[in-house]
Amino acid sequence: MGADLIFYNIGQLVTSRELEKNSGSSMENIEILENGYVAVENGHILTFGTGKVPNNLVGLNTKLIDVEGKVLSPGLIDSHTHLVHGGSRENEFSMKISGVPYLEILKNGGGILSSVSATREATAEELLSKAKNTLAKMLSFGVTAVESKSGYGLDLENEIKQLEVNKTLNLIQPIHIISTFMGAHATPKEFKDSPERFLDSVINMLPIIKEKELAEFCDVFCEKNIFSIPESKELLSKAKELGFKIKIHADEIESLGGAELAGELGAVSADHIMAISEAGIQSLKENQVIGNLLPGTSFNLCKAYAPARKLIESGVEIALSTDYNPGSCPCENLQLIMQIAASQMKMTPKEVFKAVTINAAKSIGKEDTIGSIDVGKKADFVIFDAHNIDYILYHFGTSHTQSVYIGGSLVYKK
Ligand code: NIG
Ligand code: FE
Repeated sequence: MGADLIFYNIGQLVTSRELEKNSGSSMENIEILENGYVAVENGHILTFGTGKVPNNLVGLNTKLIDVEGKVLSPGLIDSHTHLVHGGSRENEFSMKISGVPYLEILKNGGGILSSVSATREATAEELLSKAKNTLAKMLSFGVTAVESKSGYGLDLENEIKQLEVNKTLNLIQPIHIISTFMGAHATPKEFKDSPERFLDSVINMLPIIKEKELAEFCDVFCEKNIFSIPESKELLSKAKELGFKIKIHADEIESLGGAELAGELGAVSADHIMAISEAGIQSLKENQVIGNLLPGTSFNLCKAYAPARKLIESGVEIALSTDYNPGSCPCENLQLIMQIAASQMKMTPKEVFKAVTINAAKSIGKEDTIGSIDVGKKADFVIFDAHNIDYILYHFGTSHTQSVYIGGSLVYKK
């Protein structure tokens, strides 16, 4: 019989399987095999190993792919994006570089609110076509799964419009989309004078989103003058009761206690955490909340980076994502984010790869099916035009992707 497909002569096979913890940090404990092979059957991983491919795996119809000593890793996962939105915000760029703060632009009706207007004005078809183009770029960087948040509709009709685009994207293009409801992203202008009524309206959207099966996660922008700790807690507790998994945009600009709240509520991830406190770090560690770091946003907003080394040394598990959005990070290049994480946040190549594979899968609740090379998981792989992972992080500003497979099918080739 044999396998459908075998990749052989893999110089570094990044399985991203977590090895028993030795004395070092657990972010370094991923397996990388030299001279590896991976066999695929029915779109899933049949087996893998090192050295010569066992004869019994090779049948008459087996397709053999020579990886020529290069790196093969699990498909990269971008576990925090604001993928679906209308318009762009280059009109705010000069303001931003002249030093006007991000929250100041928002306060004056720009920022997120400008993207809300553009998203409300766009048809579902327009949003779909724009997001599909973005995903094609993401795929070229080796991304095979993307978390996608709503939050530019801010009313029921337009939040549903965004989330339905996520659903359609899952049907018309190969990248797996994981959907998050983020109705509490900003207070829209029609609620400017009564923000508490807006929070109630978001809470009232929850059962409808749930019933329509439009999102697995609920997220909130927990920030000074956006949504407070008590407001975020009220919303997320209701979401949790209804069966949503929880994420928080936490301690991005001010150290408000979002990471502490993430621990208290059992969130899957706390994202951004540039201004996380000591207590917040402990809360993530003790409650096994993934710290999802978005260094592209720090880079673009000219802000401090999240304290990656401190988090890692404190035992927090880290994921890395683009935060792709039209304001704080208009960048779909996850490889650049990985390169910034290594050079600016001093994450090691192994830590970076763990953060965009198995830990990213955990931060979207998909670690049982994707994120590592393990028997039975989906055959989602990237082959890099590089002979070791250090090269991929060292040579920055470019894409090293040679080809991408999702469910064992070739979906991108350079
Ligand atoms: O994660 N911080 C809040 N939301 C996004 C930015 C959204 C926007 O600026 O449009 C973020 O950075
Ligand atoms: Fe975000």
